[in-house]
Amino acid sequence: MSRVYNFSAGPAALPEEVLKEAAAEMLDYAGTGMSVMEMSHRSKTFDKIIKDAEQDLRDLMGIPDNYKVLFLQGGAHLQFAMVPMNLMKNGVADYIVTGNWAKRAWKEASKFGKANCIASSEDKNFSYIPDCSDLPVDEDADYVYICQNNTIYGTQFHTLPNTKGKTLVADVSSCFLSEPVDVEKYGMIYGGVQKNIGPAGVVIAIIREDLITEDVYPNTPTMLQYKTHADKDSLYNTPPAYGIYICGKVFKWLKKMGGLSVIKERNEKKAALLYGFLDESKLFTPTAEKGSRSYMNVDFVTGDKELDAQFVKEAEEAGLSGLKGHRSVGGMRASIYNAVTVEAVEALVKFMKEFEEKHSR
Ligand SMILES: Cc1ncc(COP(=O)(O)O)c(C=O)c1O
Repeated sequence: MSRVYNFSAGPAALPEEVLKEAAAEMLDYAGTGMSVMEMSHRSKTFDKIIKDAEQDLRDLMGIPDNYKVLFLQGGAHLQFAMVPMNLMKNGVADYIVTGNWAKRAWKEASKFGKANCIASSEDKNFSYIPDCSDLPVDEDADYVYICQNNTIYGTQFHTLPNTKGKTLVADVSSCFLSEPVDVEKYGMIYGGVQKNIGPAGVVIAIIREDLITEDVYPNTPTMLQYKTHADKDSLYNTPPAYGIYICGKVFKWLKKMGGLSVIKERNEKKAALLYGFLDESKLFTPTAEKGSRSYMNVDFVTGDKELDAQFVKEAEEAGLSGLKGHRSVGGMRASIYNAVTVEAVEALVKFMKEFEEKHSR
């Protein structure tokens, strides 16, 4: 068996330890004689799996009791609709558009009410996070929406926007559990788990209870109401059971690693290694503005499309996978989520140095 260094933007690297454990339990989970994939979601065994997963997530993030944790489906994309369907009580919301995903969320919200774009960084191809200290927040806005880490453009909010007292809603798909978080600053935090937590197919939403009401957009389907899932502890219908089980294992792995402050340090170390090299490099240039750089997705280019393609190809051959940048930025992107090791980033930097030497002669 040989595993690559995986820098994919998502689905992405998972801790090897977790994968091994899951493999060992594949045919017989905890003496049940069956795989978690084959088990009723109403069984006692699964009930413990989902309850433990929720509790471990609550412990890791310090989620207060007045917040519900929901395990949902439909990808982050479904939240682009569920958020306005459930939370736009006055029919108004403000969006900060810092990338493709935030833009999609904003466009989707405009189907359900007045969705204002109150700040954008599209003028410079989303290469920065705009100043959000004094935005024209609508008096009637039900919430202010951000995408906290912009996976495609490699930018991240390092300071939350001043929402002027309005509820903050954040898509954290690509920075979930990458650092400690003060949950109370948000009304809702959600993300697809397929980057930092588990396999594709699960979305976790953490929502303050007072926001979960029956006052939703007219005719919102039952499955698209947060209340449906909150009232039944994410077991209204068949949940993505196997995915939740893997998420639970990752939560335990994170706890064992020392929790989110330790993970943050490790993530900062990895990012510093890579950005440090990029800042010195004569061949590679990072594309995100310095103060807006993401700790999770590091975008860079050589300035020559053919050389970029050659780099990605040679890296792949050397066991460094998933480095091709998103088509809207081009070049390269190294996603260095929680499960990507310091050793993997060191290997990448070493390879980049060698490539640079070869191509600057
Ligand atoms: C920040 C962010 N939001 C939303 C999405 C869309 O997620 P999904 O494919 O789960 O709908 C992605 C990426 O895939 C993302 O990176």
